[in-house]
Amino acid sequence: MRRACVVGHPVAHSRSPLLHGYWLRRYGIEGGYGREDVAPDQAQAFFRELADRGYVGCNVTIPHKEVAFRMVDAADETARALGACNTLWLEDGRLLGANTDVYGFLANLDAGAPGWDKACGTALVLGAGGASRAVVFGLLSRGVERVILANRTLSRAEAVAALLGGKVIPIPLDEVERHLPDAMLVVNTTSLGMKGQPPLELNFARLPDTAVVTDAVYVPLETPFLKAARARGLAAVDGLGMLLHQGVPGFERWFGVRPEVDTALRAEIMADLAAKGQLEA
Ligand code: ATR
Repeated sequence: MRRACVVGHPVAHSRSPLLHGYWLRRYGIEGGYGREDVAPDQAQAFFRELADRGYVGCNVTIPHKEVAFRMVDAADETARALGACNTLWLEDGRLLGANTDVYGFLANLDAGAPGWDKACGTALVLGAGGASRAVVFGLLSRGVERVILANRTLSRAEAVAALLGGKVIPIPLDEVERHLPDAMLVVNTTSLGMKGQPPLELNFARLPDTAVVTDAVYVPLETPFLKAARARGLAAVDGLGMLLHQGVPGFERWFGVRPEVDTALRAEIMADLAAKGQLEA
């Protein structure tokens, strides 16, 4: 039986087992997908011994994506650009890696706001952590001309700009207001709005009427940020689809079927969020 897992620390909250478990059942594949909580000082050894542990591959989540990148024999272009892998697989005895977070972000946006990139001159990205890097890289790959990158700690936004190039303009978070009239897309990658965190406040009145708003946070599914955007009449795309789509390339590598992200899958994950009281803020 082919087995994969998600490796992180902590990892108990990860929905990846639910996601891949759904697809294994749906396609009638006799496979397994588990969870591995691996402490930082054990991560290198874990990836080295992946095959010996009986796995054909794995997903990698916080805080191990950079270590995973350093451990693979070869990585795809996106992973090389970001220095981080979230998907690993074994091929002819070699450990290979990819970064599918970028794909997940773009596929979710394409599904939720088709054509968003047609006239996206300027995008505004809030936050400068790992998720932000994947988002900014994805936007640039789709031809966005300018990414205003706002972060509480300016130096972290500057580090992302240094990594991803001159089209990225770092600004402090409290200067975001004056860039709103130009922003055709606004992406939250900060942890603001996450259950238990303060909401992310933005003056949505200043955004163009045709702007699209999306949030990497999906607990709660409908963040105060997305609610306010919808109340203003803007197209708003929740972050759950990022998780669902990023899993597609890994599942295909490990189990040989390219799985579909459909409404039944979304409903299954939403039922889990609801059962845990995580749908609402
Ligand atoms: P990830 O890798 O998941 O993107 P991260 O590296 O922890 O997560 O980044 C979290 C982001 O949320 C950062 O941009 C962080 O801002 P700082 O770089 O200044 O820490 C942002 N963030 C978290 N709490 C915040 C708060 N209370 N106000 C503003 N930004 C916040």
